[in-house]
Amino acid sequence: MQLEQKSLNAFLEAVKKLDDGFAALPEFSPSTYDETRLLDVLKATAERLHDNYPYFHPLYAGQMLKPPHPIARAAYALAMSINPNNHALDGGRASSAMEIEAIAALAKMFHWPQHLGHLSSGGTFANLEALWVAGQLVYTEDGTPKAIAASDQAHYTHSRISGVLGLPFISLPSDEHGRIEPNSGSIEVNSSHARLSVSPSRSFWRCPGDLAVQNCSQCTICLPGQNRFTRPH
Ligand SMILES: Cc1ncc(COP(=O)(O)O)c(C=O)c1O
Repeated sequence: MQLEQKSLNAFLEAVKKLDDGFAALPEFSPSTYDETRLLDVLKATAERLHDNYPYFHPLYAGQMLKPPHPIARAAYALAMSINPNNHALDGGRASSAMEIEAIAALAKMFHWPQHLGHLSSGGTFANLEALWVAGQLVYTEDGTPKAIAASDQAHYTHSRISGVLGLPFISLPSDEHGRIEPNSGSIEVNSSHARLSVSPSRSFWRCPGDLAVQNCSQCTICLPGQNRFTRPH
């Protein structure tokens, strides 16, 4: 057996336990479905899912995808029996409290005595929210957002979402060990462009509205409003 199945028994017990908690409610008939059809659909889905690489297998190293821990999978399916959210207390009292506990546990992992946060539905969304907050907090004197700087090995969502939010993005060079170059220097921004001085001989210029980042050894300028780079030398 390759795929984890034992936890499904525990899941069934947990659903019954969850059900017990609502026993005082007036009786009703849950909406029905065709059980044969349900099985057909699930089997057809399983068949389609064969067309995947075996992410679960210890010898598979091609992608960082892995199935969640059996507890996580079962707990998620259990919560789906009710489908609460964490958006507001009336939409999910227990799950909102769990979210606060989960955030506190994450903060503890990083040894942060003070924290504020919430869970997001995934990496893209988390980056969107974080970059939006950064964009709201950091403005130059003339009201232009400062640039977002990230390693050139950062996930592509950083540059892409910065583009969506209209935040200038600067890609910081990293060395062969994936570390941002220690002398990345200062970042200088005005209303027409952002400049990162990496060292006296290397500058990165970034035109607002253009995702390309230019690495120049001598003199690259960003022409205000033209979204392009020129090299006068
Ligand atoms: C660092 C990082 N950020 C964001 C994402 C995108 O995450 P999601 O697919 O959960 O939106 C990934 C996905 O691999 C990631 O590795």
